[in-house]
Amino acid sequence: MGWHVAIKQSKLKPGKKKMLSVAKEIVLIGQIEDRYFVTEALCRHMRWPLAYGGKVKDDCIRCPLHQTTHKIDNGELVEWSPFPLFPPYGKLVGKMSKQKDLKIYETRIKDGNIEIRID
Ligand code: FES
Repeated sequence: MGWHVAIKQSKLKPGKKKMLSVAKEIVLIGQIEDRYFVTEALCRHMRWPLAYGGKVKDDCIRCPLHQTTHKIDNGELVEWSPFPLFPPYGKLVGKMSKQKDLKIYETRIKDGNIEIRID
């Protein structure tokens, strides 16, 4: 499918994240210092939207609900649901569901836009 414009560079502020729909994919886009990252928008554990409360630290993104953590550069799982206390069935979901990496999208800058590659 190729490259798609996600957002103007000027609309994304350092340290902020946005959830966007790009070519029928729902993605999370953010900036760390001078580089951009794009991941699938929903946590792999129980589908919480990572734009709402997700923390970016040490090149990882951590879901606010149960603290599932993935590397931003390749989506590799670092920690799966270590804090599954709320909702109460979160612990069960964490044990029953398959642990998965987070999908990461390639990005580039073109004509002042952040573009992402969707295959
Ligand atoms: S929904 Fe993200 S860790 Fe549970």
